Amino acid sequence: MRAGTWIVTGGAGFIASNFVRLALEEGWCERVIVFDLLTYAGRLENLAPMIEADPRLVFVRGDIADGEAVEELLDSHPADMVFNFAAESHVDRSIHDAAPFVRTNVLGTQLLVSASRRHGVRRYIQVSTDEVYGALPLDGEERFHEERPYAPKSPYAASKAGADFLVLAAHHTHGQNVIVTNCSNNYGPYQFPEKLIPLMIMNALNGRKLPVYGDGLYVRDWIHVEDHCRAVRACAIDGQAGETYCIGADNEQPNINVIRRILELTGRDETLIEYVKDRPGHDRRYAIDSSKVHREIGWKPAISWEDGLASTVEWYRKNTAWLESVTKGDFGAYYERHYGGK
Ligand code: NAD
Ligand code: DAU
Repeated sequence: MRAGTWIVTGGAGFIASNFVRLALEEGWCERVIVFDLLTYAGRLENLAPMIEADPRLVFVRGDIADGEAVEELLDSHPADMVFNFAAESHVDRSIHDAAPFVRTNVLGTQLLVSASRRHGVRRYIQVSTDEVYGALPLDGEERFHEERPYAPKSPYAASKAGADFLVLAAHHTHGQNVIVTNCSNNYGPYQFPEKLIPLMIMNALNGRKLPVYGDGLYVRDWIHVEDHCRAVRACAIDGQAGETYCIGADNEQPNINVIRRILELTGRDETLIEYVKDRPGHDRRYAIDSSKVHREIGWKPAISWEDGLASTVEWYRKNTAWLESVTKGDFGAYYERHYGGK
């Protein structure tokens, strides 16, 4: 069954632009309304060429933390489902200044979920993160799962946790039809090069140093962005109202291994590695137990780490114009301040 109109907030960012592309290519719905503020991380380039060529895609520039703009969006675009991907998403930025995180991630979510209820949106999907569960010890079998209490450690994670609680409270209090998904670290095309994998690929391609935080033995559980997008769609269609679903691809990797593999794939050697000051409060390990989504939704990841990382490196190698375009302006200043231009 094809659904009607989907509103996708943050649709010019990394994950949601991949979601929109798949939705249009594979006919997941009839119309997609992208609502995005176009912050430093939101780029219309990420939606090219669909944005000019596909009449099923409508772009509306706006802020989820602006109540009037959200009302107007839902008035002029009655929607079957709302997918909230919009967020401030980078942990390091949240350490420098948490205020935009609280505004967009907490206030924005609250305004969007309550406006969706008032406008009769059939289902609201909150796209969230595994970081709400805090950090795991390096050694051990423990993994994050839906029953684990929230224990966010960074300002980013705390703001996402607050948002998830507000969404679940809307279900509990008002009976609103909501779903929350908590996914592990994504990688793939169109990821802004402040995050580990695209930053390392960009620097390796340019022969610049690769800044490794601390001892480089922090572990993340990597999933290809297309697998995540398919999981979000599957949960939106087959999930139970008021439930949360943990999404991952059983792919734990220490950062240093990820970086070494990128060096191999870009034909560079380890002299580019530079150990730098650690991230304050750095979460040691994330790992997801996705058995609920396998069992109840029937979703499984399809892209192997080996193929996914190789094709991602290839995508950045081919898309140097995109890289140049997105690293102009604000990012240039951020990069110089944060990495000292190394
Ligand atoms: P991103 O930073 O690449 O994109 C965020 C998008 O949101 C941008 O297009 C930006 O312009 C837009 N935006 C920011 N503030 C806004 C506002 N006030 N109103 C409207 N639009 C606004 O983020 P991403 O990595 O694609 O993450 C998307 C979502 O997935 C986020 O909610 C994030 O918490 C979640 N998530 C990310 C990962 C990951 O590994 N990147 C993993 C799990 C969950
Ligand atoms: O787990 C899901 C989360 O993954 C998402 O919710 C976040 O939006 C997303 O940014 C990501 O958070 P991380 O902090 O795990 O991702 P990041 O790419 O910033 O860092 C990954 C790891 O790499 C982490 O251990 C820090 C380390 N790192 C990162 C950068 C940018 C480095 O060693 N050097 C770097 O320059």
